[in-house]
Amino acid sequence: MEQDLAGRQQAKQAAQAAPAAQAAGVKARFEEVSKRFGSGSDAVQALQPISLDIAENAFVCLVGPSGCGKTTLLNILAGFETATTGRVLMDGRPVEGPDARRGVVFQQGALFTWMNVLDNVAFGPIATGKSPSQARAIASQFLDVVGLASFARRYPYELSGGMQQRVGIARALANDPEILLMDEPFAALDAQTRELLQEEIKRIWQNTRKTVLWITHSIEEALFLATDVVVMSARPGRIKATFRPQFAHSEDPAVVASADFMRMKAEIFGLLRGEALAAQRQEEAQ
Ligand SMILES: Nc1ncnc2c1ncn2[C@@H]1O[C@H](COP(=O)(O)OP(=O)(O)O)[C@@H](O)[C@H]1O
Ligand SMILES: [Mg+2]
Repeated sequence: MEQDLAGRQQAKQAAQAAPAAQAAGVKARFEEVSKRFGSGSDAVQALQPISLDIAENAFVCLVGPSGCGKTTLLNILAGFETATTGRVLMDGRPVEGPDARRGVVFQQGALFTWMNVLDNVAFGPIATGKSPSQARAIASQFLDVVGLASFARRYPYELSGGMQQRVGIARALANDPEILLMDEPFAALDAQTRELLQEEIKRIWQNTRKTVLWITHSIEEALFLATDVVVMSARPGRIKATFRPQFAHSEDPAVVASADFMRMKAEIFGLLRGEALAAQRQEEAQ
């Protein structure tokens, strides 16, 4: 009996110690996370159980056919959705809802149209208790980081799509999040603007070393930016393959023309093509 108690005490201590031990070097962890929307015959299994570690300072890109559950996975880490099974940990603690430690940048249109650029970026710092003058100083600093210092007094409608996305990024950074969650942030931009912003994001990541989870349709974007490229299968999404490209550490935009880059691109392209065909057949069958 006494032994039993001691054993249980030990087990309890081990369980309490576990989160800290797990967290070493791991910023966020998906543990057997699955998601089903709806119920009965209308239910959609969006994600099969997925386990994935996002290392501290990593830049993780999720790629996969449309509808495979990428946004769902990101939203579960953001705290906007709850997992049907499994759990998500950040720094070893379960995610229970949205939190300023996780900064989210949407595809487009998330700026406050009635506020100028500076006030859009200052909004988060004010919400977390900074004085208006402190918040504006922080906002100015991050507008400078994204190259928009001279647009502080403009309104969102006066900016191009690319500039609006840069404001969105500055706004996320101004909250000093520990992880940035970005769902196809450049999808609505033209190719040239996208390439310039990719270089900018790479520079920001190299300087700030924020942990990033990034969703993209573009294999090139993923290879150019990511330390880890996670390829997902057609719905219900699961992890099909993971790649560890080294191009994120390069300063040279021309890495995209290197033989290594091309080889990895072709390999991921082949995987995604198979999954896209599977997704298409799924849609046709419905
Ligand atoms: N709120 C929801 N209710 C019902 N089904 C949803 C909901 N959100 C997403 N889905 C479905 O879950 C699947 C995955 O969606 P999503 O995560 O948006 O995919 P992706 O971002 O990879 O394109 C899709 O089939 C989508 O229709
Ligand atoms: Mg999506």
